[in-house]
Amino acid sequence: MSSTESTAKRIPLPVCNHTPAPYTGPSRDEILTLRREYVNPGVLTYYKDPICIVEGHMQYLWDETGRQYLDAIAGIVTVSVGHCHPKITELVREQVGRLVHTTTIYLNPNIVKFAEALAKRMPEGSDLKSTYFTNAGSEANELAILMAKLHTGRHDVLTLRNSYHGGSQVTMNLTAVGTWKYPVPGASGVKHVPPGYCYRCPFGLEYPSCDLKCATSVEDVIRYETCGEIAAFIAEPIQGVGGTVVPPPEYFGIIYDIVRRYGGLCIADEVQTGFARTGDQYWGFQNWGVTPDMVTMAKGIGNGAPLGACTTKPEIAAHMAKRLHFNTYGGNPVSVLQGLSVLEIIDEENIQQKAREVGGYLKDRLLELKDKHTLIGDVRGMGLMLGVELVKDHKSKEPAVAETARVVELAKDRSLLLGKGGYYGNVLRIKPPMCITKDDCDFLADCLDACLADVADSK
Ligand SMILES: Cc1ncc(COP(=O)(O)O)c(C=O)c1O
Repeated sequence: MSSTESTAKRIPLPVCNHTPAPYTGPSRDEILTLRREYVNPGVLTYYKDPICIVEGHMQYLWDETGRQYLDAIAGIVTVSVGHCHPKITELVREQVGRLVHTTTIYLNPNIVKFAEALAKRMPEGSDLKSTYFTNAGSEANELAILMAKLHTGRHDVLTLRNSYHGGSQVTMNLTAVGTWKYPVPGASGVKHVPPGYCYRCPFGLEYPSCDLKCATSVEDVIRYETCGEIAAFIAEPIQGVGGTVVPPPEYFGIIYDIVRRYGGLCIADEVQTGFARTGDQYWGFQNWGVTPDMVTMAKGIGNGAPLGACTTKPEIAAHMAKRLHFNTYGGNPVSVLQGLSVLEIIDEENIQQKAREVGGYLKDRLLELKDKHTLIGDVRGMGLMLGVELVKDHKSKEPAVAETARVVELAKDRSLLLGKGGYYGNVLRIKPPMCITKDDCDFLADCLDACLADVADSK
C-alpha cells in the first residue's frame, strides 16, 4: 500500500478509456527532496503527503504509480475543457513546431483572431472589444486598475472583503483575506467593502429583510473614506478563493449604480467565473444583470496555458498608448492559440449547457448530502463552480477547519481531488474541468458521503 493510500473501501472511478504512458522519471520521494532543497518554500503543495501528478486526460489525472484520480478542482479552476484536450494538443503541437515567440512587436494572426473572438463573446452593445494580453490574472488586474486610474484621473479603488485578485504587489492589496498578505506596506487608496455573503452576513442580518445593507453601505465607505471621487470597483462575480460566495441577486446592481454615481469604473474579475463555468451565463457578471467597463480573465481562458487578458472599451484602452508599455510574453502565438481553441471548444462541445446541467445535477447531490451530514452548513454555487461550507454547529456556524482538511485528505485517498478555501479554510471547492459527466458527479458525491461519514465516526 502506498503512503497516500487509505484502508477505506474504494468507490470505483467511472471507466475511462485513456491509458497513461509508462512513467520513467524520478520517484515521488526524489522529487519531494529536490523540491524542498531547491524550490522556494512559498511554492505551496496540497496534502500532508503531496501527490505527484504526471499525466492528465480530460477530467482525470494520474500519479507516477499509474493511479487515477478525478480532478474536481481543475488546476485551481484553470482546466476548463479538459486536461490535454485532443484538439488543443494537436493545434499547439503544430504551432510550437512553427513559431513559439517573437513578442508583439511583429504582427501575427493568432493574437488578432483571439482578440476578435473574445470581443464577439462580450455582451452585445457593451463596446467591450479592446484586449491587452498578459500571462496571468494578477497582471490583468494590475492593468485594469492602472487603466481605471488613468481614465478617471482618480486614485481610490474599492474591492470586496474576502476577495482574491492575485499575488503581485497591487493585487495583494486588492485581495482582502489576511492570510494572502505579507507584512509589507500596501498600495494606497484601496478600500474594502462588505461581500454579499449571506451565510455569514457581515452585519448579522438576513436576506431579504436586510435591505441589502452589504451593498448599500458601499456609499458610506465612499463618503467617509475617500474624497468622494473614486477610480474603480473591482470584484469577482462569485468569490472563488473566498469560498464560492454567491451574492444576493440585487447586490451587484446596487453597487454598480453607486460606484458609477461617484464616477468610478466597474471591473469584473472573471478569472474563475468566466468562460461558461457558472452555466446559465457565459460571464459571471451576466448572472447579476450588470455590464462592467472592464473584464479581467485568466485561468480557464487558456485551459492551463499561462494566459491572462483585460478587455475594455476603446476609450479606456486608449490610455495605454500614451506611454510605452510592454509585456514580453503576453499575447505569444502559442498561448493565444490555446485561448482561441478554448473558445471554439466551449461552443462546439456545448460546454455552457454541460456546466448548467451537470453542475445542477451535482449541486442536487450535494444538497442531499447536506440533509444527511450535520457537518455541512451550506451548499452554494452556480454551474460547475460549487462550494460546500463545513461547520461544527449549524447555529453557531463555528467553522469546521480541521474536519475540512481531513475530508480533503480522505477524498484524495479515495482518488478524488478537491479544493479548499474560504476565510477560515472550511469550504470545499468543487470546480472540475467542465467535461465532467454525471457518472463522475455520482463518484464525487459518493466519495464525499463516505469521507464525511469517516470524519463524523472518528470524533
Ligand atoms: C479571481 C482571481 N483573480 C485573480 C487571480 C490571480 O491570477 P494568477 O494567479 O493567474 O495571477 C486569481 C487566482 O487564483 C483569482 O482566483
